[in-house]
Amino acid sequence: MAKGERRKFLREFMKNPKSVGAIAPSSAQLADAMVRGISELTGDSTVLELGPGTGAFTAAIRDSLPDGVHYVGIEIEARFVDMLRRRFPGLEFAHGSAADAGRIVDERGRRPVRCVISGLPFASLPVDVQDGIVAALLDVLEPGAIFRTFQYVHAYRLPKAVRFRKQMGELFGPLDRSKPVLRNLPPAYCLTWRRAKDRL
Ligand SMILES: C[S@@+](CC[C@H](N)C(=O)[O-])C[C@H]1O[C@@H](n2cnc3c(N)ncnc32)[C@H](O)[C@@H]1O
Repeated sequence: MAKGERRKFLREFMKNPKSVGAIAPSSAQLADAMVRGISELTGDSTVLELGPGTGAFTAAIRDSLPDGVHYVGIEIEARFVDMLRRRFPGLEFAHGSAADAGRIVDERGRRPVRCVISGLPFASLPVDVQDGIVAALLDVLEPGAIFRTFQYVHAYRLPKAVRFRKQMGELFGPLDRSKPVLRNLPPAYCLTWRRAKDRL
């Protein structure tokens, strides 16, 4: 990972610690775990990435994206969006909030969304922001679609992390939790939910 990328990340963290939620981009090992299964998607559908930051997961998503499957990334920090557009000229990025995911994919004609990969720091986001994003997930995730995010092992029991998992469990059913990905600083779990085929 480029030094400039790390510096930019740290600078944004210092300005907005709760929203950026990490002092460094995720590792390639966590990225590999996050994109598992994407290469099996078929048809004219979309992978939506929430909070791509400097693109740690975006590169792995791009490398496993099958032909005909679109990508849309939604990032709230303008500087990250500028950097992402330069680094990934073939991909589509919206500057905005994940809470507006429905409108953003509609404006681009990018439904159905069959997979959402999230880098959002749910354990540190305010609960009203968390709730707005969960409502947007209910709007955009197709029946059968998957939602995947990560949570740091050390923050797994924090009240907002627990609250988020409880809410997701009530709406989307059982959680599939990976083994801890140790080659990430700090170590993290990947958490996956699949929306039931008969729409909730
Ligand atoms: C923990 S960082 C993860 C960045 C990158 N995915 C990675 O793993 O290295 C969280 C990212 O989510 C972005 N973010 C926070 N709140 C957001 C929101 N409501 N909508 C979109 N992006 C958001 C932050 O700006 C930051 O880039």
